[in-house]
Amino acid sequence: MILAHGGAGSTPMTPVQRDCLVEALTIGFDVLRYGGRALDAVEATIRVLESGLFNAGLGARIQLDGVRRMDASITEGRTLRAGAVAGIERIRHPISAARLVMEKTEHVLLFGKHATRLAEHYKLERQPRVPTSLRKGMAPPKGSQKRTVGLYEEMEERETVGAVALDRDGNVAAGASTGGISYMLPGRIGDSPLIGCGVYADNDAGAVSMTGQGESIIRIAAAKEIVDQLESGTNPMTAARHTLNKLKKRIAGGEAGALVLTSNGRLAIYHNSPQMCAGYWKDSGKPVVYLYFPNRLTGRSLNDTY
Ligand code: GLY
Repeated sequence: MILAHGGAGSTPMTPVQRDCLVEALTIGFDVLRYGGRALDAVEATIRVLESGLFNAGLGARIQLDGVRRMDASITEGRTLRAGAVAGIERIRHPISAARLVMEKTEHVLLFGKHATRLAEHYKLERQPRVPTSLRKGMAPPKGSQKRTVGLYEEMEERETVGAVALDRDGNVAAGASTGGISYMLPGRIGDSPLIGCGVYADNDAGAVSMTGQGESIIRIAAAKEIVDQLESGTNPMTAARHTLNKLKKRIAGGEAGALVLTSNGRLAIYHNSPQMCAGYWKDSGKPVVYLYFPNRLTGRSLNDTY
């Protein structure tokens, strides 16, 4: 079983984004169908979503100083191993760099040029250079420019991506990849590379991948909060709803979305933002992708005609 998202926000997904999400779910599901590991399915799914249509990998936002810096993480529930990169540059698939940190080092999180250097050492594919005109950097908009920028962002909105998976052996995994938020200070790190905030996976309970404003998600360690509730027997929808309600109530601007998958195959997709571009593929049938998930998507009530 695989779930994936292309971000929570307020703008409808485009048909090409929808097709990309379907392709990502298909590739992840194929890994699982042929007996592959949840970890491999999560990485393969996110690599597709890093293709340029979402705010991750090739599509990652360019920051105020004209540099594209990306965050990503991956975690597996059997061993509780995790790997993450923050502020990595020029690498085509940050999710694969996160996996390198997990598998090739003794560490969990590498940042900046050190993360880039590790990825280059292992010859991960690089991105084309950001055009010189963009590399000069961009000042934050002032006065009437703000409206223009706001409109442009609504038209072009791209968001963080993520995935969670459950394989035949009962192992769960989670991952996330992002270019951060608009107009962030260079050096800012969001929730996506922080284990327990943007992602968490534990075979004793389940896996979670978050999307939304990192500053809010970090402050309540949202992914771990949801997994802890799963472990104490709460169903996935209730766990996600409790956590996102807390986010909204306690933290101004706490809009977010969550993919939740338990180790025994129950799932929920929940968001307190107007929309969330997300989908899933269960044991049979076809990939299902929607832009809006009312509060009744649970492992128990889920059906393909939903
Ligand atoms: N959730 C992505 C970020 O805030 O960076």
